[in-house]
Amino acid sequence: MPNISKRSLGTYESPIRKLAASANQAEAEGKKVYYLNIGQPDILTPPSALQKVKEKDLPIIKYAPSKGISTYVEKLTQQYQSKGFDIQNEHIYITNGASEAIQLLLMACVDADENIIIPEPLYANYVGFSEYASVQIKPITSQIEDGFALPNIEKFEAAIDSKTRAILICNPNNPTGAVYSKEAIIELGELCKKHDIFLFVDEVYSAFCYDEFEFYSALHLNDLAQNVAIVDSVSKRYSACGARVGRIVCRNAKVLEAINKFAQYRLSAPTLGQVLSEALLEVDASYLEEVNLEYTERRNVLFERLSQMDGVKCYKPGGAFYVFAELPIDDADYFCKWLLESFEHEGQTLMLSPGSGFYASPELGKNQIRIAYVLNSTDLNKAMDCLEKAIEIYPNKVALDAKMMEKI
Ligand SMILES: Cc1ncc(COP(=O)(O)O)c(C=O)c1O
Repeated sequence: MPNISKRSLGTYESPIRKLAASANQAEAEGKKVYYLNIGQPDILTPPSALQKVKEKDLPIIKYAPSKGISTYVEKLTQQYQSKGFDIQNEHIYITNGASEAIQLLLMACVDADENIIIPEPLYANYVGFSEYASVQIKPITSQIEDGFALPNIEKFEAAIDSKTRAILICNPNNPTGAVYSKEAIIELGELCKKHDIFLFVDEVYSAFCYDEFEFYSALHLNDLAQNVAIVDSVSKRYSACGARVGRIVCRNAKVLEAINKFAQYRLSAPTLGQVLSEALLEVDASYLEEVNLEYTERRNVLFERLSQMDGVKCYKPGGAFYVFAELPIDDADYFCKWLLESFEHEGQTLMLSPGSGFYASPELGKNQIRIAYVLNSTDLNKAMDCLEKAIEIYPNKVALDAKMMEKI
């Protein structure tokens, strides 16, 4: 049998999906599993936009232009301009989701032996995207005690070395739900300008900010037009993850030229997805207002329930739909597996993402988990009943015993 590549042997497993087999097994045994591991919202994709795709009745599903369907790009430009951004059509590049957008930025802007700085906990796939591009990640650890606020600017500056090409942040943040202030974004921008490096901002959760939190896009940084690139997507905003449509917005012509070269290899982003995305731009603002209210309620339920659990440390996230909590356990990987394989409460259990996979630094996040509040409040409450019970009966020694068993 031929060998697979050495490259693939070192590749990490997604913390979000790696327990899928245990979850399938739990279901096969008749348990009801509450899936709080993955950022797949249960919110409906706007029906009016789906209807427009059906009405389009395309006789051939052709390749789209590599840069994206021009009518879609033009409407996006108009939307940016109507919000006061100095964006033209040529500044927008349509991609296969934000996932491809980030990979293209890395390919276009960072060489194989160079590094990017990312606050952690981080969106786990950044690690995989960096591996694809052979780019090193220099993590800066944010802390649960201040709700995972952006680390001090001094920490970023201290991490910059001669091989640093960019700072990458996610705002609002996955996995922490932190929303970074206008002042923090401006300060980070100034640092990038001072050191002549890029600032990449993943803004896929920009539509989801709660309470007093306000989203501040890095596209406001006009003085930094050559340094800033943002990525966005229809996946979360319109609960259209399967459309696979995202974008890069950047005012640096050289970066866009380089992106175009790489993007031409993959021909185009999905044509039908772009037809849907164009229709999504017509969706009434009330859709997002209602979705925001729904997420706010879920966030409140989750925060309240977690705050009442003994030994659980958490904070009230300001955006996105995640909370990154600390549990009274010693090994979240083991605990999350145990939840699926050995635990049930009234025939039910839950699936969470273990925290360690959201850190680039080894050994961090071992007692932390990410919860995605992608289920309605009733189900969330039931899932929290399970978690509360699980924490009550889970003895740390279970993990130790299991580790000892492995060694035997
Ligand atoms: C922070 C962040 N960036 C990018 C993505 C990928 O988005 P897309 O579906 O547009 O590829 C996700 C998906 O969960 C995400 O959470």
